[in-house]
Amino acid sequence: MAVRRLDPVQPASFEFNKENLAWAKETISKYPEGKQASAVIPLLWRAQEQHENWLPEPAIRYVAEMLGMAYIRVYEVATFYTMFHLSPVGTTAHLQVCGTTPCMLRGAEALMEVCKQRISPTQNTLTADGRFSWEEVECLGSCANAPMLQIFKDTYEDLTPELLEHLLDSFAAGNPPKPGSQIGRTASCPAGGPTTLKDVAHVMTQRRNVSDGNIGEGTKN
Ligand code: FES
Repeated sequence: MAVRRLDPVQPASFEFNKENLAWAKETISKYPEGKQASAVIPLLWRAQEQHENWLPEPAIRYVAEMLGMAYIRVYEVATFYTMFHLSPVGTTAHLQVCGTTPCMLRGAEALMEVCKQRISPTQNTLTADGRFSWEEVECLGSCANAPMLQIFKDTYEDLTPELLEHLLDSFAAGNPPKPGSQIGRTASCPAGGPTTLKDVAHVMTQRRNVSDGNIGEGTKN
């Protein structure tokens, strides 16, 4: 994964608009006295949403001051979590491609190759029209449906290079597909359909053993 650094080009200042300021105050008030720092992630996230989906350095300072936190503490949070984008991202889609082991074993490298060809050879680089960007990130928690990627708040799973091409075309056309599995899998069920629960009698015996307290050494069913 690329080193996460603040963008060299930063706006002069940042402050919440009226609506977000009211929301921030209400959010902070939900935490007990002395624990306001707990609001750091929601406030950074709202700042990012307000600022074209990326988090500028003045916003990090602004949130730190609002919460009475040392600037470095908020900076640590912003630079640790890849949900915070530290430089401008595509206005239509910023693709966060999971490159951790399960996704890597299931074809993440081929997905990144498509990103290199279609978006940019380098990560966190905007297309000429500013609509798309991509980066490699660590596990996003959808390993059962690997390989996958996230675009803003949504995940797109069970991808192949061809499906990713289609995904990019759909976003470009303003008609993104439904998030989740792109091959129609329900949640994380086996790709070929359920198999392990086929033997209903076996499952019922297991359940009975658990409720009777018979699970342990020597329990065969
Ligand atoms: S390894 Fe890719 S989502 Fe977990």
